[in-house]
Amino acid sequence: MEVLNLLRPTVAVSVYLTFAALALHTHPEGRRRIAAREPGYVDRFAQEVRRFYPFFPLVMAQASTDFLWNDYPFPAGRKVALDLYGTNHDPRLWPQPERFDPERFDSRAPGPFDLIPQGGGDTNVTHRCPGEPVALALLQTGLEFLAARLQYEVPEQDLTIDYTRLPALPRSGFVIRQVRC
Ligand code: HEM
Repeated sequence: MEVLNLLRPTVAVSVYLTFAALALHTHPEGRRRIAAREPGYVDRFAQEVRRFYPFFPLVMAQASTDFLWNDYPFPAGRKVALDLYGTNHDPRLWPQPERFDPERFDSRAPGPFDLIPQGGGDTNVTHRCPGEPVALALLQTGLEFLAARLQYEVPEQDLTIDYTRLPALPRSGFVIRQVRC
């Protein structure tokens, strides 16, 4: 269990770093702003990577007591799926959700029930991922490293995302070459 606790988050963060590299590649203006260390921008870019790209599609739970939510009855014992990807792409929360736009976080801080790639609600009372601040910090460090410290070429490859695999990834991964520090 301890080994799994170490391996699973390490692999999970590497998936986000792959998407971060893809986002830098497809948004060179964002790359330039991160390399210039524009205050606060890398945080907004990292949050948009977590919102935009697929990861855990949903989390499962079981109602422990009867309750009513928005006129939907949930009897005790009912299995419930929380649609993480759907919530992160709901146009009622995220205007133009299929657009990668870090600036959407200029005017709003993510709340506990809208940006939910790692589960929702209050970490202290739910199963929301307790590693979220660690994952975010590693993602920001990785983005700064790729944008400001490394130079590389991105050869021709298939960067379309395979949504049938879990976790989803670009079909070619993200291959770089001629890497220089
Ligand atoms: C890309 C990074 C990560 C992703 C996408 C991710 C995602 C998730 C998700 C979806 C859950 C289940 C939430 C729920 O059931 O409501 C979870 C739980 C958990 N995560 Fe993460 N995680 C990541 C990184 C990490 C890291 C870095 C750590 C530790 C440092 C970590 C530790 C845990 C633990 C211990 C739980 C179980 C919490 C509980 O059941 O109360 N995760 N994670």
